[in-house]
Amino acid sequence: MTTFDDRVALVTGAGSGIGRAMALAFAAAGGRVVVCDIDEDRAARTAAEIHAASGAPSNTGDRSSGKTGAPDATPDNGPNGEAVGGAVAGPNGGPNGGVGEPNGGAVGGPNGGAVGGPNGGGGGGVAVAVAADVGDEGAVAALVESAISAYGRIDALFNNAGIIDDMALPADISPELWDRVLRVNLTGTFLVTRAVLPHMLRAGRGAIVNTASEAGVRGGAAGAAYTASKHGVVGMTRSVAWAYAKDGIRCNAILPGATLTGIADGATFDPTGAARLSPVLALGDQLARPEQMADAALFLASDAASFVNGAIVPVDGGWSAG
Ligand SMILES: NC(=O)c1ccc[n+]([C@@H]2O[C@H](COP(=O)([O-])OP(=O)(O)OC[C@H]3O[C@@H](n4cnc5c(N)ncnc54)[C@H](O)[C@@H]3O)[C@@H](O)[C@H]2O)c1
Repeated sequence: MTTFDDRVALVTGAGSGIGRAMALAFAAAGGRVVVCDIDEDRAARTAAEIHAASGAPSNTGDRSSGKTGAPDATPDNGPNGEAVGGAVAGPNGGPNGGVGEPNGGAVGGPNGGAVGGPNGGGGGGVAVAVAADVGDEGAVAALVESAISAYGRIDALFNNAGIIDDMALPADISPELWDRVLRVNLTGTFLVTRAVLPHMLRAGRGAIVNTASEAGVRGGAAGAAYTASKHGVVGMTRSVAWAYAKDGIRCNAILPGATLTGIADGATFDPTGAARLSPVLALGDQLARPEQMADAALFLASDAASFVNGAIVPVDGGWSAG
C-alpha cells in the first residue's frame, strides 16, 4: 500500500466530492493535508473527518501522540478563524487571524488564517482547513503561506477545485459564465501551481496532480467553457511536466469520467446543449465513486509513479476507449 508518511498535500476543492476523497485518502496513507475549499464549512468538515478517522481529539493538542493538528486552534483565532474540527483560514484575513505554532497554539499571522497545531506529528489524521478561492491571486498567496506556516513544505499538490458550466454550445454561452469557469478551472490551477512551485523547487521534489476531465481531451463531453477550461488544464499539465522534469517535480492529470459528486447540484442546463450532449455522456451504471478518482490521483502523486510525468490518465471505466 502506498504511504505518504510525513508528506504534505495541498488539496483544492477538498470540501466535497473528489477532492474530499483525495484528502481523506492521503491522510489515511499517513500524510498531512491542507484542505482547501472556497466553502469554509465544507473545508472544516473534511478536516474534521480526517481528525475523526484518526481518533484524534477534536480540540486538544498532543504532540506525543503524533495526532495534533488543526483541532488545537482556539476558537478566538480571529475574524476568519474557526476551530471546527480543523481551523479555517480566511483567504484574506486580517492581522488578528491565528497561525498555529508548532505546539498547537494560535498566534496572529499576516494573512489572518487560523491554522492550528501544524507540526502535530507524522501519523495519519493531521489536517488543516483553509478557506480560499483558487481564482483569487491574493487568496492563493495566503493559502500557500498558511500551508507553509503549518507544515513547512508541500510535497503533493492536487489541483482539483472546479465548477461546471451550463452545457451551452459555443454560440450560446454567456461571456460572464465563460469568464467564471475559466477563472476557477484553469486560472485557479495556474495560480495555485505558480504559488506552490517555488517551494517544490526549493525542496528539489514535488508531485502535482491536476483534475482535468474527459472534456479536457474531447469536444463532446461538456459545454464549451468547461471543455475549453479542461483542455487548458491538460495543456498546463504537460507544460509543467516538461518544464520541471529535471527539477524533480512531476505533473500529471486525471480525466475523471462521470462521478457521483455534488458538482451539478443546483445547476441549470441550457436545453439545446444538454440535449445534444446527453447521448454521449456516461450512463448511470457507469458513474464512478469519488474514491476511485482519489486512488488514481494518489498513485500519480506517489513514489510508485516516480517516472510518470506529463501523463493524462483517463479514469472512466473504459468509457473513452470506445
Ligand atoms: N463529478 C464529475 O463527474 C467530474 C467529471 C470530470 C471532472 N470532474 C472534476 O473534478 C473536480 C472536482 O469536482 P467534484 O465532482 O468533486 O465536484 P464537487 O462540487 O463535489 O467538489 C468541488 C469542490 O470545489 C469547491 N470549489 C468550487 N469553486 C472553488 C474555488 N473557486 N476555490 C476553491 N474551491 C472551490 C466546491 O466548494 C466543492 O467543494 C472538478 O475539477 C471537476 O471539474 C468531475
